[in-house]
Amino acid sequence: MILAIETSCDDTCAAVVDGSRILSNVISSQDAAHEEFGGIVPEVASRHHLELTVPIVKSALDEAGISLDDVGAVAVTAGPGLIGALLVGLSTAKAIAASRRLPLIPVDHLQGHVAANFLAPDPLEPPFLCLVASGGHTMLAGVRDHERHEILGQTLDDAAGEAFDKVARLLGLGFPGGPALQRLAEDGDPEAFELPVAMARDPGLDFSFSGLKTALVYLCRDLGPDGVAERRADLAAGFQAAAVGQLTAKLKRALKRGEWDAVALGGGVAANGPLREAVAALCKERGVRLKLVPLKLCTDNAAMIASAARYAPRLPYPEYLSYDAFASSRPPVPS
Ligand code: KG4
Ligand code: ZN
Repeated sequence: MILAIETSCDDTCAAVVDGSRILSNVISSQDAAHEEFGGIVPEVASRHHLELTVPIVKSALDEAGISLDDVGAVAVTAGPGLIGALLVGLSTAKAIAASRRLPLIPVDHLQGHVAANFLAPDPLEPPFLCLVASGGHTMLAGVRDHERHEILGQTLDDAAGEAFDKVARLLGLGFPGGPALQRLAEDGDPEAFELPVAMARDPGLDFSFSGLKTALVYLCRDLGPDGVAERRADLAAGFQAAAVGQLTAKLKRALKRGEWDAVALGGGVAANGPLREAVAALCKERGVRLKLVPLKLCTDNAAMIASAARYAPRLPYPEYLSYDAFASSRPPVPS
C-alpha cells in the first residue's frame, strides 16, 4: 500500500492506494483562504499546508482503515509547483518515511495527472493521448507506457485555467473563476464578439492563452463598466468558446499526426462542460475512445500521485533525506 501526499499548489491532499484501488483520497481545499486575494498567494498556501498536512494524512489513513504499519512506501509530489508548498509535503513525507525506514517515491505532478487514468475501476492502458489543462499547466502528452509521458505541446504563456480565472476576475466573478465563468456563459452568445482562436494556424501543438486574455481586456476597456455589466454573459461565452476551440483544435491536430486510439482529459479545466462535449464529439468523429476520470481525480489529488508512484523509482532510506523539491523543471531521474 502506498501513502501519497500532494501539496504542489493550494490543495492539501493525502491518499492511500492499494495497487490500482483507491482506499482513501482526502482533499482539503484552500479556495476560501485565497478568494479574498482573487488568486493563490504562495505564502498563504504554504502556511495552510503546514497546519493541514498532518491531519489530512491521519484522515487518509483512518478512511482507508489502516495504520502506518500497513504502508509499504510513501509517495510525494516533488514538483513542479509552488516551492514553499511542495517543501511542506516533501518534508512531511520524508519524516513519515524515515521514521519507519520506508522507501520514498518522489513524483512529477504532471505524471500524476496522467496516472489518474491508471486507477480502478476502469484503468486506461497506454498508449493514449492525454490533455491536461489546469490552473498551473496546459499540456498535450503522448503516453506510451506507465512510467513516463512525452510532452507533445504545452502553453507558451498562461495556463488554460489561469486564463479562465483572470477573465473571470475581469468580469467580476469570484475565485476560482472557471466554474462561475462556465455558468455565466450559459446565458451568453459565443459569437456576439469576434475573438481569436489563438495558434489556430500554427502548425505546432503548443498553446497560448495570453493573446485571448488581452483581447478581452481591450474589449472590456472599450465597452466601459456599464457595457461590460450589460454584456458579461456574451463576453464569458465568447472567451470560453475561443479557449475550448484552441484546446480541441490542438487535440485534433495531435490525433491526426499520431496513431492514437484513446484520449484522456485531466486538470481542473477538464470539468468544463463545453470542453467535455467538444472533445467527446471530436473523439466520436475520429473513432477514438475517450476516458473521462471522475472530477475528483481530474483536479489535484493524492490518489493520482500514488498511482504514478507505482511505476516510479523508489529511493531507499536514508538516500532521500537530501532529495529536493523542484519548482519548474524536472530533475534527472533519481538512480
Ligand atoms: O487541477 P486544478 O484543480 O489545480 C491546478 O493544478 O491548477 O485546476 C484548477 C483550475 C482553475 O483555474 C479553475 O478555474 C479551473 O481549473 N476550472 C475550470 C472549471 N472548473 C475548474 N475551468 C473552466 N471550466 C470549469 N468548469
Ligand atoms: Zn495539477
